[in-house]
Amino acid sequence: MSHFSKQDELVSNDTLHTAMSQLIAAQVSRRKLLAGGAALSASGLFAGLAMPEAEAAQVVAPQAKRLGFQSVPFSTEDKVVVPEGYSAEVLYAWGDPIGVKGRQPAFKPDGSNTAEEQALQAGMHHDGMHFFPLPMGSSGSKHGLLAINHEYLDPGLLTGDGNKQMTEEKYKKALAAVGVSVVEVARQKDGSWQVVRPSRYARRVHGETPIALSGPAAGHALLQTEADPSGKLVLGTLQNCANGWTPWGTYLTCEENFDTVFCDFSQKSDHDFNKTRYGVPDEEKTYKWNEVDFRWDRQLNRNEINRFGWVVEIDPYEPNAQPKKRTALGRFKHEGATPAIAKDGRLVIYMGDDQRFEYIYKFVSAKAWNAKNRKANRDLLDEGTLYVATFNEDGTGEWRELIHGQRGLTAERGFASQAEVLIKTRLAADVVGATKMDRCEWIAVNPQRQGECYATLTNNSQRGAEGKPGVDAANPRKNNLFGHIMHWVENGEDAAASGFKWDIYAMAGRPDAAAEEHRNARAMGDAFGSPDGLYLDHNGILWIETDISTSTLNQKEYAGMGNNAMLASIPATGEIKRFLTGPAGCEITGISFTPDHRTLFINIQHPGEPGNEITDPAKPRAISSWPDGDKGGRPRSATVVIRKNDGGVIGL
Ligand code: FEO
Ligand code: CA
Ligand code: CA
Repeated sequence: MSHFSKQDELVSNDTLHTAMSQLIAAQVSRRKLLAGGAALSASGLFAGLAMPEAEAAQVVAPQAKRLGFQSVPFSTEDKVVVPEGYSAEVLYAWGDPIGVKGRQPAFKPDGSNTAEEQALQAGMHHDGMHFFPLPMGSSGSKHGLLAINHEYLDPGLLTGDGNKQMTEEKYKKALAAVGVSVVEVARQKDGSWQVVRPSRYARRVHGETPIALSGPAAGHALLQTEADPSGKLVLGTLQNCANGWTPWGTYLTCEENFDTVFCDFSQKSDHDFNKTRYGVPDEEKTYKWNEVDFRWDRQLNRNEINRFGWVVEIDPYEPNAQPKKRTALGRFKHEGATPAIAKDGRLVIYMGDDQRFEYIYKFVSAKAWNAKNRKANRDLLDEGTLYVATFNEDGTGEWRELIHGQRGLTAERGFASQAEVLIKTRLAADVVGATKMDRCEWIAVNPQRQGECYATLTNNSQRGAEGKPGVDAANPRKNNLFGHIMHWVENGEDAAASGFKWDIYAMAGRPDAAAEEHRNARAMGDAFGSPDGLYLDHNGILWIETDISTSTLNQKEYAGMGNNAMLASIPATGEIKRFLTGPAGCEITGISFTPDHRTLFINIQHPGEPGNEITDPAKPRAISSWPDGDKGGRPRSATVVIRKNDGGVIGL
């Protein structure tokens, strides 16, 4: 996402760049891999993280040595382009019915669907996503549930006349268009995929869905409001960016730019940590929700904002289960929540905070997850330790725990309890001296080497600017317009370790750039910039999705580079090839494979978005008509199914 990303910075850091560590990803032996896969998949609940032994042998054993497709060129075409031998088909676009029995309103291309209808349809601006096989606990690749984030809104597209004149109905439709979808999907005889309608699993979680606040901060005074004196029940989740999942088959959806739907006109003397450290705007001119509901006006409702900025756990297999905001995972502009299993079975969740000069975190659960009893994991994410990363100049790194009473996190410093450490996570991370990063987006975990991670740092034009933090070892470029990809291995190859060794996998950029800091380096191949989505598959292919902001797309330093793209890379060789290009004005995001890696789901977000990120309602198709073409009324974000025409494994 680029929308609403005000990247303020508050503290400076003058560390200088020195040598990188030299870490080479070792190939894991087939024996070790299979042993790990078998152990992790005990009782078959480990959906998405590991596979039964037989399947692992079939899919994983030959690690990719080279990419088996021809690069696609830069593109400015208003369509999805994939390599020869592949197909890309739209599965689920904004406004498509989710499939509630007897209530399946069709999309109206003039934007006239009501709020009530929108709550039964796909939301806007698809982002993070995960495939959960059916039946639950299987590693089936023909039938499953897709949980999909709807990150944000384009008010100029949502209704026929935009929101210049705000109304209660437009406000309700907006709340219904954000959040999450759960839809049932099935492969057809011809290999294509369809949404199953009706489906008992069809569900929308949106801006008015009751969601529990759980974990150490639940019920704290800062989470209490007039409407909810308990501080334990909030209406809605929104600005859901990237995602994660758990080994017991639940979905993690991450609230990113939550601050921007609020406004705060208060005097400077009344500014609190939300204003100074989370960047709440004075005025909110885009959504205008505060014109209809004082929930979003901080002068009238001080604490509502503290109930957003969390990771939310949703059980896609239980449509009536209440989602939970897991406060133990901290409160910041959560990008994603990528799982790994520690050697002792505890669950580790890696998380980026996507704003300039913010941090990288991980959560380690207090207890091991239970592979035999799904219910025993129900509140596993409520208890554990949150850590923040420091990247040292010598290529080592440290995870510093954020625990009340330790490392200066005391009442005198503004943290009266662990709840306050979590509600003010960014401020706690400041106190312990975390490393300020160039906007961490997704983190990918190697499914075959415990403790190995990659992370996208999308860009940071302010790095090294006057009055801003300078370069450091982990963020070595001033004016970092193209971004880079970090790599680290936890000590002892244990995801729960307190330290790690790191290096930089790729400096994104273009070989013909005038400035040295805009050229690509290290892992080499097709040029790209602003890496965002990231996933390391079971075959050892690292998938990279780009989000060049629409104000920059194919312009300035990015001139000639066309639309946003998806690339594939093999860390063992450093090869990088462009795999897919998207339609005009979109970003590429969301990535999930079926366990057999023969179907790949991705999301096309905000096709047609103009540079100012709000469509002129009088000209909804000014930039893109994707996916409906001339017959459609407006561009629509959508989930796309990628397959190889011969039914083979994607990327090989
Ligand atoms: Fe929603 Fe940081 O992208
Ligand atoms: Ca993102
Ligand atoms: Ca982004």
